[in-house]
Amino acid sequence: MRYLTFALAKGRLAKKTLKLLEKVGITCEEMKDPDTRKLIFVNEELKVKFFLAKATDVPTYVEYGAADIGVVGRDTILEEGRNLFEVMDLGYGKCKMCVCGPESARELLKKNELIRVASKYPNIAKDYFYNVRHQTVEMIKLNGSVELAPIVGLSEVIVDIVETGATLRENGLGVLEEICDLSARIVVNQVSLKMEHERISKLLKDLKTVLQEENE
Ligand code: PRP
Repeated sequence: MRYLTFALAKGRLAKKTLKLLEKVGITCEEMKDPDTRKLIFVNEELKVKFFLAKATDVPTYVEYGAADIGVVGRDTILEEGRNLFEVMDLGYGKCKMCVCGPESARELLKKNELIRVASKYPNIAKDYFYNVRHQTVEMIKLNGSVELAPIVGLSEVIVDIVETGATLRENGLGVLEEICDLSARIVVNQVSLKMEHERISKLLKDLKTVLQEENE
């Protein structure tokens, strides 16, 4: 049997995902060592491999087949636009992609003015402003702490993830428009889904059962 390889977006999602996989019998003891510098983990018995990658790289590994299966946020899937199958919503990591800014920016949006939009997600932001709102904007790509942009005058609004809303509130900003709902998703390589159909569909079925039980 060949190895089934999982790419997990490192951080909070990976922790939740490993717990969930454990519940369907897919374990990896090696990975639990907090001091390990190892990048890839193997369960010889089950013939599975895991690795943790930067979230934005997970769709890349899956598209090229270096990983059969990936677990990553919908934000990253939409932003990266890779060729892969999104097969399951895991229901955790729930948050929203929003246009945010100071209350004063609401007018600028309403009047369809040429505004500057800062975001870690330029593709999602462009798609929203061009194809949904039909508004021309200047996109400014940032890599983190995006809430700074309207505060220091880099942009009028931002497109960013809102979970609790605490970051916005503490910085005098708010949600101006909601773009879409986000959560953790399972993605599968297009060839793997055919070649390993049996193993992958069993895994998805088991995961669904566990998630349903948790929600009851
Ligand atoms: C994310 C996001 C917001 C924040 C939202 O940032 O970009 O800044 O979390 O969460 P809240 O609504 O619960 O306050 P992340 O922590 O991933 O880091 P970053 O700002 O460096 O991107």
